Amino acid sequence: MKRFVIRSSGGDYPLLCGRGLVRRGGWLARQLPDDPSGVFLLSSPTVWRHWGRALTSALAPARPRRILFDDREVAKNLQTVEGIARQLVRGGGDRGAVLVAAGGGVVGDVAGFVAASYMRGVRLVHIPSTLVAQVDSSIGGKTGVNLREGKNLVGAFYPPRLVVADPDMLATLDDRQFRSGLYEVVKYAVISDPLLFDVLERTLGRMTRRDGSALDWVVARCARAKGEIVGRDERESGLRQVLNFGHTVGHALEAASGYRRLLHGEAVGWGMLAAVEIARELGRLSQAQANRVAALVAGIGRLPRIPVAPAAILARLHADKKARAGRLRWVLPRRVGEVEIAEDVPLALVREVLNRLPRLLPAARQSSAGEAR
Ligand SMILES: NC(=O)c1ccc[n+]([C@@H]2O[C@H](COP(=O)([O-])OP(=O)(O)OC[C@H]3O[C@@H](n4cnc5c(N)ncnc54)[C@H](O)[C@@H]3O)[C@@H](O)[C@H]2O)c1
Ligand SMILES: [Zn+2]
Repeated sequence: MKRFVIRSSGGDYPLLCGRGLVRRGGWLARQLPDDPSGVFLLSSPTVWRHWGRALTSALAPARPRRILFDDREVAKNLQTVEGIARQLVRGGGDRGAVLVAAGGGVVGDVAGFVAASYMRGVRLVHIPSTLVAQVDSSIGGKTGVNLREGKNLVGAFYPPRLVVADPDMLATLDDRQFRSGLYEVVKYAVISDPLLFDVLERTLGRMTRRDGSALDWVVARCARAKGEIVGRDERESGLRQVLNFGHTVGHALEAASGYRRLLHGEAVGWGMLAAVEIARELGRLSQAQANRVAALVAGIGRLPRIPVAPAAILARLHADKKARAGRLRWVLPRRVGEVEIAEDVPLALVREVLNRLPRLLPAARQSSAGEAR
């Protein structure tokens, strides 16, 4: 097991990462914050189906009460928050309660926001169960829910007291979800970690087959990278922006396709290809380095075809730009392991790259959106 400490203005917290942590009967209960007046285990029916028994036994000595809620993105809203809060009241939850969120990013974001607001804040523990949640959403304290008007529009920075990431939980994830998380893993390698990039190049086959020891190392490496970045810039005033590599076009692509056709990580996969091409065109990234990143993205598996026209993506970028006081920020790689923030990317180049984007990935590496893989 690896242990890292994440720095946070709301209090530093440990991140424990290792295979088999969740299956160790009774172990989780002993890691919980001191003297809870009650422990509430928040999860979803899907996660529970796979991991309910293990979680129950791992937390048994703490006698948790279980609250399950719908973790589809459409249910990531204030109504779900209210439903959980009311169950907490009925279950006797007071200010001394500890909420344990076991699930993917949706469970973590919703439960985190409940923890931030219930009785003006109760203690929170994350047990992330997807690759995205283990390397990204459970670390850094961002919580929140969607409004009909847009994603994550209501939320709070609320650091957990503890994060326990067990890569064994990823074994039950469906293939598309798992691969989608791998694009975020590639993101960490490109923005800050050349060694991780080398390892991914050498072991991508093992990763996509979910080899336990390969995953164990990679999850810990990425979780630590995220922890270091948010520890130095909790509120996204500067450094944390590098985490948006691939997300400028990625977000626009997701929004333009109504958040239905692509998973977030898949959109980021396309977005990374776009950012790499922009950096290469601007002469800030060598052809050889650009090829390496594109090959790694392609190696993860087939990306769904881009489901919308370039003009629709461009329109979304324009909307984002307006929302950000006229500035669009690009995270562009200089080389593997190093990126820069750029605001000076000419629009004509963006348009050209979006037109060319489908051809940046060999056709064999693309499939119609939603096609079974
Ligand atoms: N707070 C942050 O910093 C942050 C960062 C990234 C993403 N997010 C948010 O996270 C959400 C996406 O999270 P996600 O990618 O983890 O997906 P998710 O939470 O939507 O989970 C994907 C699917 O996998 C299922 N699942 C979860 N764990 C499983 C397991 N171990 N075995 C089998 N099935 C399992 C879920 O029930 C769900 O059906 C989005 O809402 C996004 O906005 C937040
Ligand atoms: Zn992301």
